Amino acid sequence: MEDILSRIDLGALPAHVAIIMDGNGRWAQRLGRARIEGHRLAIPAVRAAVEAAIELGIPFLTLYAFSTENWQRPAEEVKGLMRLLYYVMEEEEEQLIQQGVRLHVIGNLELLPTEVRQRLEIALRRTAAGTRLTLTLALSYGARQDILQAVRALALAVQQHLLLPEEVDERVFRSFLWTRDLPDPELLIRTSGEQRLSNFLLWESAYTELVFLPVLWPDFRREHFYQAVWEFQQRERRFGRVLS
Ligand code: IPE
Ligand code: IPE
Ligand code: MG
Repeated sequence: MEDILSRIDLGALPAHVAIIMDGNGRWAQRLGRARIEGHRLAIPAVRAAVEAAIELGIPFLTLYAFSTENWQRPAEEVKGLMRLLYYVMEEEEEQLIQQGVRLHVIGNLELLPTEVRQRLEIALRRTAAGTRLTLTLALSYGARQDILQAVRALALAVQQHLLLPEEVDERVFRSFLWTRDLPDPELLIRTSGEQRLSNFLLWESAYTELVFLPVLWPDFRREHFYQAVWEFQQRERRFGRVLS
């Protein structure tokens, strides 16, 4: 681990890393356990990602925890995940405060069970003074749903003459997105070997470097994070231009 860490250029870090935490179900299945066990035993991986980001000094980490489409999973799994979320916030809140983490959340929160939403609001309030890392949970999140709610809000602003259609540029548009307070992610990691975005940060990842790791999320540790950052640093980012 020291080895991979020493190869990272601390002067060329991504400011925002996003992770699609995937593979909990398969991890559980391999051990002949229920899917929810995979989710439960993925908590150390979440801690590892937070610790790695803090250790490197990366200010923004966004974790895809539950998608809009995940609501269509069996009711029992959804219920288990919501219960887990509630429990994790209670268990981890103090540690997050100690670490200087400010919790943030994006997604259609109205769909969350009331207790979960209330518990989330407490955690957001209690961690509000954190300055080392903004940890964003994408919960009940879908990028298409975000783009649609932004378009609706924009249309309303135009209808009310608060905005002219010709004033709508990228900066104005993004100010309506759930992600308006976050910089675009420079690095997006997906675990479990799947190579797709699954409705995550579609607008924001236009020029993001994608790193796909074979490790299943419950097995993810700090060295996997460092590995992905190192791989990011080997890429040549062009943004459509020709490099001289
Ligand atoms: C990711 O693991 C966690 C959530 C989507 C909540 P999965 O539950 O998708 O695990 P696999 O992909 O079925 O292995
Ligand atoms: C994406 O994973 C959502 C989260 C990790 C929260 P999924 O497992 O839901 O995505 P698909 O179904 O493989 O595309
Ligand atoms: Mg999955």
